[in-house]
Parts: sequence; structure tokens; C-alpha cells
Amino acid sequence: MTSGLSGELKWWQRGVIYQIYPRSFQDDSGDGVGDLRGVTRRLPYVAGLGVEAVWLSPIFTSPMRDFGYDVADYCAIDPLFGTLEDFDALVQEAHRLGLKVMLDYVPNHTSSDHAWFQEALGGKESPRRDWYVWRDPAPDGGPPNNWKSFFGGPAWTFDQASGQYYLHQFLPSQPDLNWRNREVRAAMMDVLRFWMRRGVDGFRVDVIWLLAEDERFLDEPVNPDWQPGHPEHASLLHPYTQDQPETHAYIREMRAVLDEFDDRMMVGEIYLPVEQLLPYAGTPGSPMVHLPFNFHLILLPWNAEQIGAFVDDYDAACRAAGSWPNWVLGNHDQHRFKTRVGAAQSRVAQTLLLTLRGTPTVYYGDEIGMENVPVPFEQMVDPAGLQQPDSPQAGRDPERTPMQWDGSANAGFCPADVTPWLPLAENFREVNVAAQEADPASDLNYFRALTRLRAEHPALVAGEYRRLDAGHADVFAYERGLGPERVVVVLNFGAETRTLPADLQGTTLLRSLGTSEDQTALQPNEARVVRLEA
Ligand code: GLC
Repeated sequence: MTSGLSGELKWWQRGVIYQIYPRSFQDDSGDGVGDLRGVTRRLPYVAGLGVEAVWLSPIFTSPMRDFGYDVADYCAIDPLFGTLEDFDALVQEAHRLGLKVMLDYVPNHTSSDHAWFQEALGGKESPRRDWYVWRDPAPDGGPPNNWKSFFGGPAWTFDQASGQYYLHQFLPSQPDLNWRNREVRAAMMDVLRFWMRRGVDGFRVDVIWLLAEDERFLDEPVNPDWQPGHPEHASLLHPYTQDQPETHAYIREMRAVLDEFDDRMMVGEIYLPVEQLLPYAGTPGSPMVHLPFNFHLILLPWNAEQIGAFVDDYDAACRAAGSWPNWVLGNHDQHRFKTRVGAAQSRVAQTLLLTLRGTPTVYYGDEIGMENVPVPFEQMVDPAGLQQPDSPQAGRDPERTPMQWDGSANAGFCPADVTPWLPLAENFREVNVAAQEADPASDLNYFRALTRLRAEHPALVAGEYRRLDAGHADVFAYERGLGPERVVVVLNFGAETRTLPADLQGTTLLRSLGTSEDQTALQPNEARVVRLEA
């Protein structure tokens, strides 16, 4: 894949993807839940962040048992979010501002409210029966095998009327589609076409590595590393429900549909080790997803040794595979990164995300330093948390709270007299967009400085990555080089002041802690971007 001048790169290689969780971005209708008109109103803010594309988490008709990841009609907008006209207006405004629009495509499962599943429930003779995955009970009448749902409990639910079980890797109200069935594939491909014809530029594809299951339906083996308190789903290994060869074939079909249109892309949600992850990009002759999401910055312990070693390995593996790298620090399923790595390290993390080689994906609110909002069990709404009271980390409400726009009641997210669907952060009067606009030293202005640097220094976008020796185990340093330009990033993961080696000193382009003019000393937790003179 090209890694020449940034002008030769595609938009999804060049730019930053910004994820919006529509329920929580901006409420326009005044019901305490965000909506499309709210998003459209805030698009100038998003464009002003210097990002390239917005990805909207699901906005389709849904009973919202998994907040939209349970789709009842793939080609209609849920009334909670607005109408198709509102959507068209959103796309138009985004394009006017130079932003691409990506939707969330949820192919693995529908809602049980979907007309297809309702027909399938009609019985074994229903023409839609085979659109889902049905099995007879085990000899003892129980589920066909030991497969588990990601949200806890069995992955099978019994249908009294027909005497069979159906498969669901998530809630019982999220039955798995049977991707082995050609008609299912054809119908789902038409969904992609429907949205691309409406101007959509790309898709984030939900749980793409789960599409197919092994046809033998064997029990999955026990995970010897599992410990109480870990999610129940992780108590098994998943050789039969994840990463099947058929899945690769289905993704190639999806890609062919995207390639019927100009310049579209898809990024796949895939939680797998690098050796299994990179094959999802396919090969030049047989391409698959444009970007297989790389979640390892979320999953690894936060220290210079492990992060640095991973970056080296992943960059080299992408190069060898000819695929474009990508990086993620947060999303709607993961605790806020500022909470995970700690406030002191948050700019080190943000700098890393935006200066490594590869496409960064940013989660809404991370640019102003939003943190997890504690949500007591009585106020919890996320099924992943409600169904697993023994796994305190499982709930995802803390990272899905309303965007903090200003210091007024409800932070400008919804009217003052309305209760937002999730509680606001207690500190919203200090941590909000309006307050940070006015403060040159804010997280928001630091984020903008980073995207500005990317715009001004093509080496940060298209340059090669090379590890540098910073002389200390807790400092991770690397160079991005393009032609004569060499931009160096130095990240102090530790709490000690460190001397910057002489060969890494140059013109400081950006520093995360503006409190010292010293060019040679790196402060504790400091991130610095330096331009080396040729
Ligand atoms: C993905 C989504 C998550 C959802 C699940 C089931 O992992 O990111 O939010 O609950 O799929 O659709």
C-alpha cells in the first residue's frame, strides 16, 4: 500500500476518524437522548477538530435493548434519532464541511423484532427459518452445546413453539444471522448499497470476526487462564465461534460491494492477536476490510516497554503484510482512556495516538479529557453490566455519558428541565468545550495542536516509523521521516525527569506541559514533538 507523500494516501489513511455515539452527542428534540439534528448542529465543531471522518454508532430502527446494536430495520432511521431526511441533511452538511460520513453496519445479528426473525419464528417451514441459526436440543433437552453469550449466560435460547434453540452471541433479543445462507448475504449486501447510494462514505462493521460458526457445533474448550470476576464469556476459548475461514470469504463479498462504488471504505471490529488480525485486510488481489481495528493500545498495560515493543512489532507486521496500520484508544465498549492510563499520562496517550504511523480513531469527548462517569447499579442501563453483576468492569455506561459542551445545566447536551438518559460527569462545569475553547492550555487545544501538526507536517501522516533509543526504559521515542523531514516524538511514560539525548534535540513543535523552556530535560509525563534539522 502507498506510503509516499500524504497526497497519495486515501482519506481513510490520511485522516482521523471521530466516533460519535449519537445518543450522547447532542439532544435537539429535547427528550434527553441525542439525535441526528443535534449531531448536524455540532458538525462545525467536529470539523474544527481537524478530523477527516465521523463514524456514527447505530442510528437504525431498534428496540434499543443494546442501544441500537439490535437492528430491527437496516434501512430506516429510528424515530428517536430522527428521519431519513434528517440523515440526508447530516450527510450534506458533513460533506459541505469536508467531512466523510461512516455508518455502523451490524451484520452478525438482528434484533428479535426484525421482520426476518419474526417470520423465522413461524416454524421450521418458514422461508426465513434458515436466515438464523437453529439447532435441536441436546439429548438432555438443554442447549445444543456449551457456547456462551458475550453478555453472560448461554448463547442459545429455546423456542417453545418449534422445540429448537436459536443462536445469539449477545442478548437473546439479538439472534445471529446465518451468513451461510445466500439470501441473507444478498439482503445484507443490499443494505450496504442502500446507504452508499445515499452518500455514505464508509462503514464500521460490528463484530465482523464473529460472522460464521463452525458447522460441527462442538463444545468450546475451557480457558485455563480465566479467573472469577472476569466476564463469563472469557471462561471459554472460542475456536468454533470466532475467526472462521467462511467469515473471510463473506468479507471478500462485502468488499466487492464496496468496490462497486468510488472511494468507500470499511473498518472491521476485530479483537484478535496481530497474526490473526492482519489477514482481515486481505491481499491486493483479494482485499477484505480497509482497516482491521487494532485495539492493542487499549488492551496492553500502559508502560513504555510494552507499548513500544508492540508498536515496533505491529508496524513491522503491517509493512510486511502491505496493510495500512491503525490505532484506537477508546470506544463505546471500553473505559475512557484518561481513566485507564491516569490523568497524568493522558497527553502522552493522545500524542501517541495522533503521531504513530496509521489511521487514528478518536472517541467523542476524549478530546476534552472526558473520564469514566461512575454509574451506580440502580442507574445502570447497559445490558452487559446488568446481566453480569459479578463483573464490575463489564458495564459500559461510564464511557457513554453525555458530551460536555458548556457549564450550563445538563452541559448544553439537553434542556435544563430534562433528565439526560445517562448521568453527566460531576465535573462538567470545569471540563467542557466552552471552557476549554477559552483556555490555551486545555486538552481541547492540545488535541487541535496535534491535528494541526499532522496537517502541517506530512511526515506525521505519511512518514515511515523508526524506533529511537531515548536512553531510558520509561521513555518511548520514535521518528517519522518523509523525504528530508524528520519529526521525532518523545514520550515520558514515567514520573521522573529525564534528559533528552543530544541527537533527539531540535526545534520543539509541541510539548504537552508548557511549564518549562528547558530543551534538554523531559519532565515527568511529558510528551514532546521535535523537528530535527536535516
Ligand atoms: C459490538 C459493539 C457493542 C455491541 C456488540 C453487539 O461489540 O461495539 O457495543 O454490544 O457488538 O452488537
